[in-house]
Amino acid sequence: EFHLAPKHASFSFEGPFGTYDRRQLQRGFQVFKEVCSACHSLKFVAFRDLEALGYNEAEVKAIAKQWAIKTPDVDPATGEMSTRDPVPADHFPKPFANNVAAAAANNNAIPPDLSLMTKARHHGSAYVYSLITGYRNQQGYRNEDGKELLKEFPDARTPEGLHFNPYFANLNLAMAPPLTADGQVTYGDGTKPTVDQMAQDVAAFLTWTAEPKLENRRRAGLATIVFLLIATGLAYMAYQNIWADKK
Ligand code: HEM
Repeated sequence: EFHLAPKHASFSFEGPFGTYDRRQLQRGFQVFKEVCSACHSLKFVAFRDLEALGYNEAEVKAIAKQWAIKTPDVDPATGEMSTRDPVPADHFPKPFANNVAAAAANNNAIPPDLSLMTKARHHGSAYVYSLITGYRNQQGYRNEDGKELLKEFPDARTPEGLHFNPYFANLNLAMAPPLTADGQVTYGDGTKPTVDQMAQDVAAFLTWTAEPKLENRRRAGLATIVFLLIATGLAYMAYQNIWADKK
C-alpha cells in the first residue's frame, strides 16, 4: 500500500460545535477564483450563494463579471461559441468548451467539478488539503512502513506529463501542482499566503461548497438533543407522579 491517508489538518468546522470561519472561506474562494477556476467548475454553486460568505449584492455582481457564460449559439464570424455576462443566479461555469477540449488541455484527464469533492472523497477536507500539498518526488519515495516504491515496483514510473502524488489513489495525477509558491495570491486580511495556508483555505472553501448548511444541521441536531433530554425528564416526572400513590 503506497497510497497515503490524508494528513491531519485542524479546521474550525470540525466537531459537533464547529463552525465555518467566514474570513477563511473568503480566502479560500480567492484561491479558487485565482487558481483553480482556470480548470475547475462549481456547477452546484451560484454566484449569489457567495452572499453567505459575507459578500454583498454589488460584490457578487462584480465577482460574477469575471466569468463568462457560454451560450449554445456559435458566433458566425469566428466560429467560436458565443458568451454572455453572468447574472448572480448563474453557476460557476466550466472553463472548457466541452470535455474533449478539457481533456486535450490536461493530458487526457478532465478536471472534475469541485462542488462536492470534499464529500466524494474520504476525509474530503483533509484530502483536498493533503493532495494540494502532497506532491513528492517519486524517486526514493517510501510509504509509512518504510517500503520504497521503486524498489518494490521498478516499473511504476510516473508517466510523462503526470505528477506523482501519494495522496491520490492511483498515485499519478494529471493535475500539476496548482499551488507552488508562497504569495501566489495576495490576501486582503493580512493572513500570510503560504502554500500550506492557501491549501487549507481552499479546502475549507470547498467544504462549504459541498455543505453550505453544515452549521444549520449541527444547530438543529443540538436543539433536537436538548429537546429530547427535556422531554425525557418530563416523561419521567409524569411517570413518578402517575404511580405515586400505587405502592
Ligand atoms: C483533479 C483540486 C487547480 C487540473 C483535481 C481533484 C481535486 C483538485 C480535489 C480531484 C482529485 C481526485 O479525483 O481525487 C484542485 C484545486 C485547485 C486545482 C483545489 C486549485 C488550488 C487545477 C488547475 C488545473 C487542474 C489550475 C489545470 C491546469 C486538474 C485535472 C484533474 C484535477 C486535469 C484530474 C486529474 C486526474 O484525474 O488525474 N483537482 N485543482 N486543477 N485537476 Fe485540479
